[in-house]
Amino acid sequence: MTQVVTTINEVKSIRKAVLKEKSVGFIPTMGALHAGHAELMKQARKENDYVIVSIFVNPTQFDNTEDLEKYPSTIQSDIRMAEKETINCVWLPKYSQIYPDEYKYKVSESELSKTLCGTHRPGHFDGMLTVVMRLLNIIKPTRAYFGEKDYQQLQLVRGLVQAFFMDTQIVGVPTVREPTGLALSSRNTRLKPEEKENAPLLYKILKLAKSDEDARLDLEKNGFKVDYVQDINGRRYAAAYLGPIRLIDNVKI
Ligand code: PAF
Repeated sequence: MTQVVTTINEVKSIRKAVLKEKSVGFIPTMGALHAGHAELMKQARKENDYVIVSIFVNPTQFDNTEDLEKYPSTIQSDIRMAEKETINCVWLPKYSQIYPDEYKYKVSESELSKTLCGTHRPGHFDGMLTVVMRLLNIIKPTRAYFGEKDYQQLQLVRGLVQAFFMDTQIVGVPTVREPTGLALSSRNTRLKPEEKENAPLLYKILKLAKSDEDARLDLEKNGFKVDYVQDINGRRYAAAYLGPIRLIDNVKI
């Protein structure tokens, strides 16, 4: 039975009293859970005695008000998915609990976070790193799980725990894709039918193009508004819009 809790005191006392000697897996999410999240849950389930999922749409990592306002919310079906995946606890924190300081204190990184998505989404990674640090400090999980679709995020979180001597192991989980190749994302539900048809081209073009410049041109030809395509250390990263929806992906090259 999945326990649903809302306060920091509840999760802290679960961590302290019930789980002193046990391993705790943690999956931070913003809800609108899909098969990609289910994969994180399955892996966490295999590797830990107790698994906690948080659902919190973190406003400090949104650089665009419309994106925040339109972020899908499907709490009831999210909880059902957690139950199906035998998650022990779902935590639904509130802004005032996570940000008692009103975000006067934040964590920032000065190199990687200024590239790729960081160039186009000012403040995004500060907000993401800050919320992840707060969540990890509250739960103190043994392991925390992040999808490789947000590869830059995963690298930054790994850097965060190293830089601040945090005891959590960060586990990256491969991207889950639709049969068309489209990487699963909560934002996909906002694509119009014709955009949804076009969207798998992002992955196909990233995989097949000879260079990042070729990939950019090909995406533009196919109706994408490209933020960036960039090859770095054997991986090709991209972010591109279809209508108002920003899609990101990355592939090994
Ligand atoms: O990847 C996400 O859903 C978010 O960036 C995260 C890690 C839950 C932090 O809000």
